[in-house]
Amino acid sequence: MTSTTPQQQRPQRIAFLPGDGVGRDVGAEAVKVLEATAERFSLDLELEHFPWSADHYLETGVTLPDGAVEDFQERFAAIFVGAFGDPRVPDMKHAADILLGLRFRLDLFINQRPVRLWNESLCPLRDKKARDVDFVVFRENTEGAYVGSGGNFKVGTPHEIATQEEIHTRLGVERIVRAAFDFAVAHGRREVCMTDKSNAQRFVGDLWQRTFVEVARDYPQIETRHLYVDALAMLLVREPESFDVIVANNMFGDIITDLGAALQGGMGVAASANLHPGRVSMFEPVHGSAPPLAGTGRANPIGAVQSIAMMLDYLGHRGASDAIEAAIVESLTAGAMTPDLGGSATTSEVGDRLARTVSATPVDGPAALQCEETP
Ligand code: IPM
Ligand code: MN
Repeated sequence: MTSTTPQQQRPQRIAFLPGDGVGRDVGAEAVKVLEATAERFSLDLELEHFPWSADHYLETGVTLPDGAVEDFQERFAAIFVGAFGDPRVPDMKHAADILLGLRFRLDLFINQRPVRLWNESLCPLRDKKARDVDFVVFRENTEGAYVGSGGNFKVGTPHEIATQEEIHTRLGVERIVRAAFDFAVAHGRREVCMTDKSNAQRFVGDLWQRTFVEVARDYPQIETRHLYVDALAMLLVREPESFDVIVANNMFGDIITDLGAALQGGMGVAASANLHPGRVSMFEPVHGSAPPLAGTGRANPIGAVQSIAMMLDYLGHRGASDAIEAAIVESLTAGAMTPDLGGSATTSEVGDRLARTVSATPVDGPAALQCEETP
């Protein structure tokens, strides 16, 4: 038995699961940038590839193999995931088993989704500067509407009944709310906004409301706000600049982070981290597998590459993470963009440029991160 965690061991082992569709295309670029970064910053990392995907499932009948969760916990510091989803698996069984399976079984209770406008030209809103869109969503990732509790009865008859229950626990709510406040303190953020639908969902709403108020007492330096999720959706569009850190349940967090992705330029640029601090954690772009785009060179690798930056930050390599973010800003400023952002660069051209920029990062780190904006 070792006394160090896989995060502390060297090399730090990374499980790499490109998955389906464009997950493989952007995954290849993520590896390219990761390798350039490891080389430039002398990181001792080791990548191990796993073929789990729709193809693998259709060939073998296996989604997430037995023992995979334990293997990840024992040997790996982090997991990178591309995307899952394939029209040949209409019930998404493999995606549910692998993606949701890993979130739940590794107890990755924080789904951290930064929403940051890297370049103001990407914002669909009028007159927004890059600094106006810069907030982080803390989505609860292990309970709520995603627990799969419910059932159906008299299916296919006029009397059909379907139930779908949400489970919210004090422990589950408290730890995600605390994570949001801890992040606010650590990153100099002013406010944490909790969003729910407590005017309609009384019992769950009561638990979230009380927990939020109680946890907030431990963080007197952080301002608090509560918004019903419908009002939050409106305000995210009207005044994104008023948001700093948002904490939400699993389902609301899912919905508002797609809205957030649109504010920063679309699904192609959105990144996420599924975290359990101190344990193996999983990093993935927010977008799906987009089957029609697979292999066309049109997929945007930025969401995947930014997820790599989040992973390196989690693994203790802040300088390397900053260098990747600076490279993303550089590529967007130079107009090296895939078609989803209005450019004509291919997936691998963007990846090559990001890798080259990271490789050329000066020894004392990237220049202070600057987002492109007009004066
Ligand atoms: C996401 C996705 C997943 C989710 C789907 C694929 C189950 O939309 O990561 O946001 O709802 O969590
Ligand atoms: Mn989603």
